[in-house]
Amino acid sequence: DEDPRIHGIKTKIRVVPNFPKPGIMFQDITTLLLDPKAFKDTIDLFVERYKGKNISVVAGIEARGFIFGPPIALAIGAKFVPLRKPKKLPGDVIFEEYTLEYGRDCLEMHVGAVQLGERALVVDDLIATGGTLCAAMNLLERVGAEVVECACLIELPDLQGRERLNGKPLYVLVEYQ
Ligand code: PRP
Repeated sequence: DEDPRIHGIKTKIRVVPNFPKPGIMFQDITTLLLDPKAFKDTIDLFVERYKGKNISVVAGIEARGFIFGPPIALAIGAKFVPLRKPKKLPGDVIFEEYTLEYGRDCLEMHVGAVQLGERALVVDDLIATGGTLCAAMNLLERVGAEVVECACLIELPDLQGRERLNGKPLYVLVEYQ
Protein backbone atom coordinates (compact mmCIF):
# COMPACT_ATOMS: atom_id res chain seq x y z
CA ASP A 1 0.00 0.00 0.00
CA GLU A 2 2.39 2.57 -1.30
CA ASP A 3 1.41 6.22 -0.99
CA PRO A 4 0.09 7.30 -4.41
CA ARG A 5 2.50 10.26 -4.46
CA ILE A 6 5.50 7.90 -4.58
CA HIS A 7 4.82 6.80 -8.14
CA GLY A 8 4.89 10.41 -9.36
CA ILE A 9 8.17 10.99 -7.53
CA LYS A 10 9.74 7.87 -9.11
CA THR A 11 8.87 8.99 -12.60
CA LYS A 12 10.65 12.31 -12.07
CA ILE A 13 14.00 10.79 -11.05
CA ARG A 14 16.16 10.49 -14.16
CA VAL A 15 18.52 7.52 -14.43
CA VAL A 16 21.66 8.37 -16.41
CA PRO A 17 23.69 5.32 -17.48
CA ASN A 18 27.50 5.44 -17.29
CA PHE A 19 27.70 8.66 -15.25
CA PRO A 20 30.06 9.71 -13.76
CA LYS A 21 31.86 6.46 -14.66
CA PRO A 22 31.18 3.48 -16.94
CA GLY A 23 28.80 1.02 -15.28
CA ILE A 24 27.22 3.51 -12.86
CA MET A 25 23.49 4.19 -13.23
CA PHE A 26 23.35 7.74 -11.87
CA GLN A 27 20.16 8.68 -10.05
CA ASP A 28 19.56 12.31 -11.03
CA ILE A 29 17.21 14.17 -8.68
CA THR A 30 17.55 17.51 -10.55
CA THR A 31 14.67 16.42 -12.80
CA LEU A 32 12.49 15.93 -9.69
CA LEU A 33 13.31 19.50 -8.62
CA LEU A 34 11.97 20.78 -11.95
CA ASP A 35 8.50 19.51 -11.04
CA PRO A 36 7.06 21.56 -8.16
CA LYS A 37 4.34 18.98 -7.42
CA ALA A 38 6.76 16.04 -7.20
CA PHE A 39 9.29 18.11 -5.21
CA LYS A 40 6.58 19.21 -2.75
CA ASP A 41 5.21 15.66 -2.46
CA THR A 42 8.72 14.50 -1.56
CA ILE A 43 9.10 17.07 1.20
CA ASP A 44 5.53 16.49 2.43
CA LEU A 45 6.05 12.73 2.78
CA PHE A 46 9.06 13.29 5.01
CA VAL A 47 7.34 16.05 6.99
CA GLU A 48 4.29 13.85 7.60
CA ARG A 49 6.59 11.13 8.93
CA TYR A 50 8.68 13.34 11.24
CA LYS A 51 6.41 16.12 12.50
CA GLY A 52 5.50 15.73 16.15
CA LYS A 53 8.46 13.37 16.74
CA ASN A 54 10.37 15.92 18.81
CA ILE A 55 13.25 16.14 16.35
CA SER A 56 15.37 19.19 17.17
CA VAL A 57 17.98 18.93 14.42
CA VAL A 58 17.96 17.90 10.77
CA ALA A 59 21.49 17.12 9.59
CA GLY A 60 21.87 17.31 5.81
CA ILE A 61 24.73 15.70 3.90
CA GLU A 62 26.58 17.64 1.20
CA ALA A 63 25.55 18.13 -1.50
CA ARG A 64 22.04 16.91 -2.14
CA GLY A 65 21.07 16.60 1.51
CA PHE A 66 21.29 20.42 1.43
CA ILE A 67 18.36 20.50 -1.02
CA PHE A 68 15.96 18.24 0.88
CA GLY A 69 17.02 18.79 4.50
CA PRO A 70 16.21 22.50 4.98
CA PRO A 71 12.55 22.43 3.86
CA ILE A 72 11.97 19.42 6.12
CA ALA A 73 13.69 21.20 9.03
CA LEU A 74 11.59 24.35 8.58
CA ALA A 75 8.34 22.41 8.38
CA ILE A 76 8.97 20.36 11.54
CA GLY A 77 10.43 23.25 13.52
CA ALA A 78 13.97 21.86 13.75
CA LYS A 79 17.31 23.51 13.13
CA PHE A 80 19.38 22.56 10.10
CA VAL A 81 23.02 21.51 10.39
CA PRO A 82 25.13 20.98 7.25
CA LEU A 83 27.55 18.03 7.22
CA ARG A 84 30.19 19.16 4.76
CA LYS A 85 33.05 17.82 2.71
CA PRO A 86 36.51 18.77 4.09
CA LYS A 87 37.78 22.35 4.39
CA LYS A 88 34.41 24.04 3.75
CA LEU A 89 33.32 24.92 7.29
CA PRO A 90 35.08 27.95 8.84
CA GLY A 91 34.71 27.07 12.53
CA ASP A 92 36.11 24.28 14.68
CA VAL A 93 34.98 20.91 13.34
CA ILE A 94 34.89 17.24 14.15
CA PHE A 95 35.30 14.87 11.21
CA GLU A 96 34.65 11.28 10.19
CA GLU A 97 36.41 9.57 7.32
CA TYR A 98 34.71 6.85 5.33
CA THR A 99 35.50 4.55 2.44
CA LEU A 100 34.07 5.01 -1.02
CA GLU A 101 34.02 2.56 -3.90
CA TYR A 102 37.34 4.09 -4.90
CA GLY A 103 39.30 5.80 -2.14
CA ARG A 104 38.20 7.73 0.94
CA ASP A 105 36.15 10.79 1.75
CA CYS A 106 35.32 12.74 4.87
CA LEU A 107 32.43 14.67 6.44
CA GLU A 108 32.85 17.55 8.88
CA MET A 109 30.45 19.13 11.39
CA HIS A 110 30.82 22.36 13.34
CA VAL A 111 31.58 21.88 17.01
CA GLY A 112 28.72 23.35 19.05
CA ALA A 113 26.09 23.02 16.32
CA VAL A 114 24.45 20.05 18.05
CA GLN A 115 24.09 19.58 21.79
CA LEU A 116 24.09 16.56 24.07
CA GLY A 117 20.70 14.83 24.07
CA GLU A 118 19.35 16.36 20.86
CA ARG A 119 17.13 14.21 18.65
CA ALA A 120 18.49 14.16 15.10
CA LEU A 121 17.26 13.20 11.66
CA VAL A 122 19.92 12.61 8.97
CA VAL A 123 18.86 13.49 5.41
CA ASP A 124 20.48 12.66 2.07
CA ASP A 125 19.24 12.01 -1.45
CA LEU A 126 20.54 8.46 -1.79
CA ILE A 127 22.05 5.50 0.06
CA ALA A 128 24.42 3.29 -1.91
CA THR A 129 27.04 1.51 0.25
CA GLY A 130 25.88 3.34 3.38
CA GLY A 131 29.33 4.69 4.21
CA THR A 132 28.24 8.31 4.01
CA LEU A 133 25.22 7.88 6.31
CA CYS A 134 27.32 5.86 8.73
CA ALA A 135 29.88 8.69 8.98
CA ALA A 136 27.08 11.23 9.45
CA MET A 137 25.53 9.22 12.29
CA ASN A 138 28.92 8.86 13.96
CA LEU A 139 29.40 12.65 13.96
CA LEU A 140 26.04 13.19 15.66
CA GLU A 141 26.51 10.40 18.18
CA ARG A 142 30.00 11.63 19.10
CA VAL A 143 28.47 14.88 20.37
CA GLY A 144 25.81 12.98 22.30
CA ALA A 145 22.87 13.37 19.94
CA GLU A 146 20.38 10.56 19.40
CA VAL A 147 19.90 9.70 15.72
CA VAL A 148 16.20 8.95 15.44
CA GLU A 149 16.31 7.84 11.80
CA CYS A 150 18.04 8.36 8.45
CA ALA A 151 15.88 9.51 5.54
CA CYS A 152 16.75 9.22 1.85
CA LEU A 153 14.78 9.54 -1.37
CA ILE A 154 16.48 6.60 -3.05
CA GLU A 155 18.00 3.31 -1.92
CA LEU A 156 20.15 1.03 -4.06
CA PRO A 157 19.26 -2.17 -2.16
CA ASP A 158 21.73 -4.37 -4.07
CA LEU A 159 24.60 -2.60 -2.31
CA GLN A 160 23.20 -3.51 1.13
CA GLY A 161 23.98 -0.13 2.63
CA ARG A 162 21.39 -0.74 5.35
CA GLU A 163 23.70 -3.35 6.84
CA ARG A 164 26.24 -0.63 7.63
CA LEU A 165 23.84 1.48 9.69
CA ASN A 166 24.28 -0.55 12.91
CA GLY A 167 20.56 -1.22 13.18
CA LYS A 168 19.52 2.42 12.89
CA PRO A 169 16.22 2.78 11.03
CA LEU A 170 16.40 3.99 7.46
CA TYR A 171 13.35 5.40 5.66
CA VAL A 172 13.40 5.63 1.86
CA LEU A 173 10.77 6.65 -0.66
CA VAL A 174 12.06 4.79 -3.71
CA GLU A 175 14.14 1.64 -4.27
CA TYR A 176 16.10 1.40 -7.47
CA GLN A 177 16.41 -2.20 -8.76
C1 PRP B 1 26.37 10.45 -3.21
C2 PRP B 1 25.02 10.57 -2.53
C3 PRP B 1 25.31 10.22 -1.10
C4 PRP B 1 26.44 9.20 -1.24
C5 PRP B 1 25.92 7.81 -1.01
O1 PRP B 1 27.12 11.59 -2.97
O2 PRP B 1 24.47 11.86 -2.67
O3 PRP B 1 25.74 11.35 -0.35
O4 PRP B 1 26.95 9.31 -2.58
O5 PRP B 1 26.93 6.83 -1.20
P1 PRP B 1 27.26 5.74 -0.11
O6 PRP B 1 25.98 5.24 0.48
O7 PRP B 1 27.99 4.66 -0.90
O8 PRP B 1 28.17 6.35 0.91
P2 PRP B 1 28.51 11.85 -3.73
O9 PRP B 1 29.59 11.00 -3.14
O10 PRP B 1 28.26 11.68 -5.20
O11 PRP B 1 28.90 13.36 -3.36
P3 PRP B 1 28.23 14.77 -3.81
O12 PRP B 1 26.84 14.78 -3.22
O13 PRP B 1 29.10 15.79 -3.16
O14 PRP B 1 28.22 14.82 -5.30
